[in-house]
Amino acid sequence: MVKNPLEVALRNLRLKTPLMTASGTAGHLDELTALKDYRTVIIDALGAFVTKGVTLKPKRGNPELRVVETRTGLLNSIGLQNSGVEIFLKQELPRTLQYELPIIVNISADTAQEFEELAAYLIDNDAGRIISGIEINVSCPNLSEGGAIFGTNPYAVENVVKAVKRRVGDEVLVITKLTPNVTDITQPARAAIAGGTDVLSMINTLRGIAIDVDAGKPFLGNVYGGLSGPAIKPVGVYMVYECFGKITECKNKTVPIIGIGGISTWRDALEYIMAGATAVGIGTAWFVDPGIFGEVKKGLDKYLAKNEKTIDELVGKAHYC
Ligand SMILES: Cc1cc2nc3c(=O)[nH]c(=O)nc-3n(C[C@H](O)[C@H](O)[C@H](O)COP(=O)(O)O)c2cc1C
Repeated sequence: MVKNPLEVALRNLRLKTPLMTASGTAGHLDELTALKDYRTVIIDALGAFVTKGVTLKPKRGNPELRVVETRTGLLNSIGLQNSGVEIFLKQELPRTLQYELPIIVNISADTAQEFEELAAYLIDNDAGRIISGIEINVSCPNLSEGGAIFGTNPYAVENVVKAVKRRVGDEVLVITKLTPNVTDITQPARAAIAGGTDVLSMINTLRGIAIDVDAGKPFLGNVYGGLSGPAIKPVGVYMVYECFGKITECKNKTVPIIGIGGISTWRDALEYIMAGATAVGIGTAWFVDPGIFGEVKKGLDKYLAKNEKTIDELVGKAHYC
């Protein structure tokens, strides 16, 4: 049989395409199915689905306004609103089964111990073995360290990954999602690898504020937000490039990278792949164009056919010229 040129592997998890949803931007998949032709433009184009962030207990999220559009991107401060892991497992996760996609569950917590408990709860209660991977969101405040973001402290990153890995073992893929709000991305990346992560994903949103000059105050109820969309793409590509270029486990793909941030065309996706990403996540762009996954898949398909290449052969290409 001829190999599908779009197929990639994240360790032992095979994806039919390198395209994934970026956590928090497509709910638990139900929103996507409102589209008439969702099977072709979304399900057939996706290699895996990443859920929005799940926490141990339900979370109400931040005060409104939670989302504001800027000229080159989106500023959000949702504050991880979700129904908590119990309802997620009972009501939300089973609904995703019908799409026959690998499901990655994005998790957030306030302490390393809570991360461990949450991961254990997911694994122990996933009776249908629906979950293929857990993505650890280290962009949340670490209450045992006075509220500093986990992801900005390599020691905290290593601890959290170790705690999750301890409970999950090799049963599902452990992905660590890095924050770009650091000086040197290779430090938390190396810490996640030392903690035993299987895969790295990057980047989460960049911190920002937008001010309503008519009202003379910040737009967002929470004042601070996270910037996503086209403005952050060069930052994301840079961070993937750095990790692939400087970390042996990334370069030899024993710890593959998922590139995320500002992708809105197939060329953007290819930039991430050539910088060193094996797969890519798309978030904000799908708010603008729900057909984005199908469009990106089509563009990549054409490029691969024209150049007689596979995605695998293009991972990190920009390092070898
Ligand atoms: C509305 C919104 C909610 C998000 N929620 C989460 C989340 O729950 N967990 C997480 O790890 N990242 C979350 N993110 C970050 C995205 O997954 C992604 O890393 C970021 O938006 C950059 O990708 P993009 O430019 O393609 O949107 C969220 C982003 C947005 C815009």
